[in-house]
Amino acid sequence: MNKETLPLAQSRNNPYKQTRLKTFLVAFIGGALLYHCFTRPSVLLGSYSSDSFIGKSDDLCAQSTPLFPTVHGTLWEKLQAGFKEQEFQNKTVEWLAGAVKVPTEMFDDMGPVGEDPRWENREAFHDYLVEAFPLIHSSELITLQKVNTYGLLYTWKGSNETLEPIIMAAHQDVVPVNPTTISSWTHPPYSGYFDGERIWGRGTNDDKSGLIGIFTAVETLLSNSFTPARTIVFSFGFDEEGGGIQGAGELGKTLLDVYGEDSFAFIIDEGGGFTEQFGSQFATPGIAEKGSLTVQLDIATPGGHSSVPPDHTSIGILSRLLVEFENNPFDSALSRTSPLYAQLVCFSTHASTLPPSISKLIHRSLSSEKALADLEKALFDKGSFGDSIGMSRLWKSMSGTTQAIDVINGGVKSNALPEQAFAVINHRIGIDSSSSAVESRDTSLLLPLAQEFNLTFTAFGELISDPSSNSSAGKLSLDYLPTRRPLEPAPVTPLDSNAFGLLAGTIRSTFDTHRRLDRSSTEKNEVFVAPGMPTGNTDTRFYWKLSKNIFRYKHHHSKSSAHTVDEFIELDSYLEMIRFYMTLILNSDEARDI
Ligand SMILES: *[C@@H]1O[C@H](CO)[C@@H](O)[C@H](O)[C@H]1NC(C)=O
Ligand SMILES: *[C@@H]1O[C@H](CO)[C@@H](O)[C@H](O)[C@H]1NC(C)=O
Ligand SMILES: *[C@@H]1O[C@H](CO)[C@@H](O)[C@H](O)[C@H]1NC(C)=O
Ligand SMILES: *[C@@H]1O[C@H](CO)[C@@H](O)[C@H](O)[C@H]1NC(C)=O
Ligand SMILES: [Zn+2]
Repeated sequence: MNKETLPLAQSRNNPYKQTRLKTFLVAFIGGALLYHCFTRPSVLLGSYSSDSFIGKSDDLCAQSTPLFPTVHGTLWEKLQAGFKEQEFQNKTVEWLAGAVKVPTEMFDDMGPVGEDPRWENREAFHDYLVEAFPLIHSSELITLQKVNTYGLLYTWKGSNETLEPIIMAAHQDVVPVNPTTISSWTHPPYSGYFDGERIWGRGTNDDKSGLIGIFTAVETLLSNSFTPARTIVFSFGFDEEGGGIQGAGELGKTLLDVYGEDSFAFIIDEGGGFTEQFGSQFATPGIAEKGSLTVQLDIATPGGHSSVPPDHTSIGILSRLLVEFENNPFDSALSRTSPLYAQLVCFSTHASTLPPSISKLIHRSLSSEKALADLEKALFDKGSFGDSIGMSRLWKSMSGTTQAIDVINGGVKSNALPEQAFAVINHRIGIDSSSSAVESRDTSLLLPLAQEFNLTFTAFGELISDPSSNSSAGKLSLDYLPTRRPLEPAPVTPLDSNAFGLLAGTIRSTFDTHRRLDRSSTEKNEVFVAPGMPTGNTDTRFYWKLSKNIFRYKHHHSKSSAHTVDEFIELDSYLEMIRFYMTLILNSDEARDI
């Protein structure tokens, strides 16, 4: 490979970090803290007053320099050449297809490991890994510990113990294929069929491409005699699609026992990829996750014959309470401190076809409350920039706490008064709120109605109100759904760390290399990195204590399908993902500032 064709940057620079210094200077001379909107938002925002920086927007959403390995530069170049080899490409297809053929389905109602036989296919998956990746399983530097039978914890021991290890995570399980949809698949869901362009089947996208992509990178590095300086831990849960409690839940505890709090330089798990937005490519690593709280409302009233009914049956009362919920949605607000706002600022700075009026509105919103309100209205009411209705709902939902009444049940017979009725409400908690805030809000929302209907009201185990007379017409209880523990919003990953700079630099070098070297493409070889926030949760919910730097990112076109019929991944996109994992391993290995 010709060195001249490669921009081998010698140093990493994380502009998010650099601007921190500038900020103080800027603040000092009375300027605005604008371009800093997503570094340390809570500290930095709120004090700016002028809009003097809006014109000089170069620093808004500044980008890391593409980062290429240098210590491992020769090895890295050799590996890039390998991507063009037919044999290597065939091997990557084979590795992924073999993994897809083991249907590690995850069902919602699975019992404990050891009791429910539906877990046992994970064993076959483990056997497959051993057979497919002989170097990983025979290396003296790599150990495998099985946690809670099926959780896979591989440790690739680095030579330098003073370097903080990293975690590369993925999950073994897949969402089930609904048997009635099998005939709608272009190629059978567990075939791993390769049509010359795409690899088909459940898990090709979510998340066997992640797990096998990581192992393809590792096996290839081993075949090139690479030995790491920095320890790498591979943590592969087996029930992510069902909440991850038995898999990542146990893996997280083991890791905490062995390594302690804040002991990893960073953690990378599945999450946002890259996609075209307004004419430019944006990669959006998830740096935050909403929480969740699922509550059950129970009404109990005296039963009896329906020929002599009270004014309100338990079903009638429950209905009234539910109407109260829907009449009082949570406030959603576009906040300057949210990752989504930072993403908008990145669009306004780097998206080539974003309408100028919107771009200006975003810039003005940095300092003007009125513009911020107008921007919020544009996003929440019209679905961003004239987009579909789905987009407006997405923006609104991601900008606050939500509620959805998902289950209702009551009554057993057409001529008997219902003694019981219940409903289940699912909340997703906004990143600046908490489960206790949502609990108090639900409780205070129901209190006046509990009093009006003379109900004895208990919320989360505490007696809230009891009618003083003997006229209690029944009981109202508000409580957690027993099977769903509340989940707080995740700690927000900082953007001004060297680890984030390393991630962003690696994303940019991978994107560029993939297009320049192998496709001789004339398209613009640039991707912009903007913070993102996935709509759901990942296994990282069990890893919060292990590192402040948690990245939910998978280097792929996020448009490829998942969880539905006809899941597939393009070979080209998959190769780029593997290239990313290799480069990330090498960049992290030689970094001395993370
Ligand atoms: C790669 O696979 C194709 C079929 O998909 C085959 O025709 C070709 O010979 C293989 N090449 C190598 C080098 O294995
Ligand atoms: C609640 O109790 C009060 C006092 O006993 C009574 O006047 C009122 O009608 C009751 N409300 C309902 C909805 O039953
Ligand atoms: C409430 O009921 C109890 C027992 O049924 C009775 O002893 C008491 O006097 C009643 N109180 C009122 C205020 O009616
Ligand atoms: C191990 O890493 C530390 C921290 O970067 C460095 O100071 C030290 O020189 C390294 N040791 C070796 C043997 O490379
Ligand atoms: Zn997944």
